[in-house]
Amino acid sequence: MYNEIDLDKIDIAAEPPTEEPARQYYFMAKCREWVKSFEQENGRLPKSCVLNFGCQMNARDSEKLRGILREIGYEEASEEQADFVIFNTCTVRENANTRVYGRLGQLKPQKKKNPHMMIGLCGCMMQEPEVVEKLKKSYRFVDIIFGTHNIFKFAELVATRLESDRMVIDIWKDTDQIVEDLPNERKYTFKSGINIMFGCNNFCSYCIVPYVRGRERSRDPRAIVREIERLAADGVSEVMLLGQNVNSYGKTLDTPLTFAQLLQEIEKIEGIRRIRFMTSHPKDLSDELIRVMADSKKICKHLHLPVQSGSTDILTKMNRRYTKEQYLNLVDKLRRAVPDISLTTDIIVGFPGETEEDFEETLDVVRKVRYDSAFTFIYSKRTGTPAAVMEDQIPEDVIKNRFDKLLKEVQAIAAETCAIHEGTVQEVLVEDICDHDPTMVTGRLSNNLLVHFHGGKELIGKYVDVELSECRGFYYIGARR
Ligand code: SAH
Ligand code: SF4
Ligand code: F3S
Repeated sequence: MYNEIDLDKIDIAAEPPTEEPARQYYFMAKCREWVKSFEQENGRLPKSCVLNFGCQMNARDSEKLRGILREIGYEEASEEQADFVIFNTCTVRENANTRVYGRLGQLKPQKKKNPHMMIGLCGCMMQEPEVVEKLKKSYRFVDIIFGTHNIFKFAELVATRLESDRMVIDIWKDTDQIVEDLPNERKYTFKSGINIMFGCNNFCSYCIVPYVRGRERSRDPRAIVREIERLAADGVSEVMLLGQNVNSYGKTLDTPLTFAQLLQEIEKIEGIRRIRFMTSHPKDLSDELIRVMADSKKICKHLHLPVQSGSTDILTKMNRRYTKEQYLNLVDKLRRAVPDISLTTDIIVGFPGETEEDFEETLDVVRKVRYDSAFTFIYSKRTGTPAAVMEDQIPEDVIKNRFDKLLKEVQAIAAETCAIHEGTVQEVLVEDICDHDPTMVTGRLSNNLLVHFHGGKELIGKYVDVELSECRGFYYIGARR
């Protein structure tokens, strides 16, 4: 177990071990020696900054990188002050991708000024061979490039870079390996994301994730439970179980276990008060899971259930494997079993071949389900996916028009559904001091809505009963009860 390792006792003069994670502990110890000499030379510790550009899984990976950097001896700092900047990239849509090149360009002068400076790039974008080619050609000042399958090797890659002057590139096409027991640096003391599975096998026709995250692999349930028990002992009371398609958890394990069964195991863990998960794929959401959610005291009354489109024709072309009617039936079933559940979704506008009628079907689903909120995306063509070569790509102005119309509808409905809790008293987990008013704190309801109310930082991480006095569109102003 990681907590029990003393890095200073590792013999770095010996050959590195071949098994994991021992090998990485060895390289962490090695980098630590380098940090000591840096400190002697410069009179200070080196500073690092890890920035993530993607989803919650990407954010979780960044925490692992920060954990490794902390063990090596780096201090955290802002991007401008850091000696080592790591961009953990996303490539789900083209704009996520473009932002990274922009930010990299801005880092170049900073690197020129700071002789110690290193730049690392990792994450989903690095799994695209064209991206790595471009970096090798036009961004020679990058020091370390690695992908999504080998982030556990970060310490080893840093050690390699420190020993040579060359750009270190290590990208794996796929893996079946899951390395446990590496360090971790949580953003919050009281809540944490936990990977329960990696990769995706669904191949929705627009989506690049299966190509950059590899095949679906579930973590051993004992490792998950052990990690959560440890987190609970360390003060964590809310967990977010992470996977691209949590509803298919466990199918590939030697002793198969369903996601609903895993949830029941986690429910038993003392100290855990709230359980969240994402993302659920409608095609795999079982009756068993609905039953477990309805019976649970800890599973939050919130489900993110991406619909993507309301048109069965488009859903077929997207390879989502459900129809509009099946989706709406599922929503009915959920609402019957868990009446106060809050539903949120993802919607893509302008998928190839989307007609005005198809778009109307999407609006129809939005009006029928009445989501608490929805993330709306303009379809982005991802090279290598089946949708990228489909006929009838939709012109930009048509998409923009539909997008604006959808957003208006989604927002109007969300404001109404959000307001129904006005006047009730609910339990809030306080997360932070309010961004706009330092005399207030911000917390979340079980259904994921934000609430701001008067209070100080001693409340952070605590559960407080709050009266939801006033709904302001997508959040509440409340008062302690
Ligand atoms: N695994 C999750 C979602 C991962 S990506 C799921 O299946 O729901 C998050 C969201 O990005 C998706 O739900 C989808 O709405 C959006 N998305 C994915 N690929 C996209 C693309 N090519 N263009 C626009 N949006 C996309
Ligand atoms: Fe992409 Fe579909 Fe997998 Fe989600 S389920 S990550 S949208 S392929
Ligand atoms: Fe982006 Fe990779 Fe997540 S492409 S959305 S960071 S899985």
